[in-house]
Amino acid sequence: MNDKDGFTWWKHGVIYQIYPRSFYDANGDGVGDLPGIIEKLDYLAWLGVDAVWLSPINTSPMYDFGYDISDYRGIDPVFGTLADCDRLIGEAHRRNIRIVMDMVINHTSHLHPWFVESRSSRDNPKRDWYIWHDGKNGHPPNNWMAAFGGRAWEWDGATGQFYFHSFLKEQPDLNLRNRACREAVFDELRFWLDRGVDGFRLDAVTWYVKDDLFRSNPFGWGPNAPRPYDLQKHIYDQNRPETHDVLRELRKVLDGYEDRMMVGETYVVSQGGAKTAASYLGSGTDELHLAFDFSLLFSKYGARHFAGCLSRWYDAMPAAGWPSLVLNNHDQPRSMTRWCMGKDGGQRARVLAAMLLTARGTPFLYYGEEIGMKNGAITRKQVRDPVGIKYWPLNKGRDPERTPMQWSAGANAGFSAAEPWLPVAGTFRDVNVAAQTDDPGSLLAWYRDLLALRKKQAALARGSYRPAYSEPDVLAFYREDGGEKVFVVLNFSGKQRSIGSEGTSRWQVLLGTHRAAGWPIDGGRIDLVPYEAVVLGRI
Ligand code: GLC
Repeated sequence: MNDKDGFTWWKHGVIYQIYPRSFYDANGDGVGDLPGIIEKLDYLAWLGVDAVWLSPINTSPMYDFGYDISDYRGIDPVFGTLADCDRLIGEAHRRNIRIVMDMVINHTSHLHPWFVESRSSRDNPKRDWYIWHDGKNGHPPNNWMAAFGGRAWEWDGATGQFYFHSFLKEQPDLNLRNRACREAVFDELRFWLDRGVDGFRLDAVTWYVKDDLFRSNPFGWGPNAPRPYDLQKHIYDQNRPETHDVLRELRKVLDGYEDRMMVGETYVVSQGGAKTAASYLGSGTDELHLAFDFSLLFSKYGARHFAGCLSRWYDAMPAAGWPSLVLNNHDQPRSMTRWCMGKDGGQRARVLAAMLLTARGTPFLYYGEEIGMKNGAITRKQVRDPVGIKYWPLNKGRDPERTPMQWSAGANAGFSAAEPWLPVAGTFRDVNVAAQTDDPGSLLAWYRDLLALRKKQAALARGSYRPAYSEPDVLAFYREDGGEKVFVVLNFSGKQRSIGSEGTSRWQVLLGTHRAAGWPIDGGRIDLVPYEAVVLGRI
């Protein structure tokens, strides 16, 4: 795919998320690192991904495993050095793979020098870089809560005020309303853009700006209730209109460089879903380049549900906007575990992959998704995620979806010479890269074939999307670009199905789970076996 008409890498490419602690450990300390990622770049190039998004690698005391940054310009020693990072960027670029860094700018670590200064006295010049407030008769100023539990306000005895944190108390929120603070944050981003980073995944975008009148949230049930946090409607501590101003300014920073991208974590399941997520694209050219709509990820399994999610997401797009698609990330149980635990799990995984990689939008993969990794089992003693530590057993945390990449059937799944920081999932003997690499019938081969097909067929990478058929078990759609037309038919059910195709067109198989490429299909009816996925091109 070339980048003609500005149809650039983040639109036609596939982005692969790496959770660096768990990808590959090159120095044998049980934790994944940057040299480890460099060693595996050939694998990623072989798979055919266009970009890698790295969960945070900056200096951090690791209260939230890097989502609490204490130095934006440093690399945490557990991952390597700045020189390793430069080498990673260079080696990736040499293979035509872009590097997207996670930027956590809603909050810093409480150990960041900015916060250390801010909390040192009420008249420190950086006091207003964070959100400080007097109490009300000894109580917090309002009812805002932390997404990770408890009050969002933490009392600071030394200066006699509360500070605000959307997540852990070790993650104080920056005050992005403060001009100097905002400019300082932009400078940290420029530091990485200057070093050649191709873009950012912006953490917790919807939390960026809080109500300036500090009004309490009203009560209302969210989707995950009874998590106490979801008993409130987050209208005053999230999705404030001024967030768009911050994004517009950030966009200008990125537009000062060539071909950079920012994708926002727009976690708005209980706050308007696709519509709210899409609103953060602005006109499509002046705020985020891409936003995440998590509706698909949270959807029930089934063609009808998935079709609805896709349509709502596409309908919400601004005219110049471009969608992204995601089924997995480091915060949610893996799709194999959510949807594919039965005996037909392997077949379901293929149909899901086909949807993700043939529907309209930039697909995001999460490491291990391509081999069908499932959540690992984590015992009480093994929990590392602060959310799991706090809420066990009600919420066992996010470690199960963060277990080490399964490279081989060898010791520690080939991830590390030492005992890994999280236990390897029990499935590794059967589910691993080595076992699947040379097997043309493997899930890994299927992903690789789909990635290759996207590169060949412009209609898949950039074409329009038109639902073709409404049947509870089958998702079928046309993708069209110029004269090229592709017909995708996905049977999400374990039953035989038969569907009609448009007009009298004759098709041939481009890629299928059950049919070989080149197989001709006459227009009219197409009979599908259970869990058949097939991508058809016109003869
Ligand atoms: C985002 C991240 C999550 C992190 C949180 C706080 O939701 O994806 O992993 O814990 O923000 O930074």
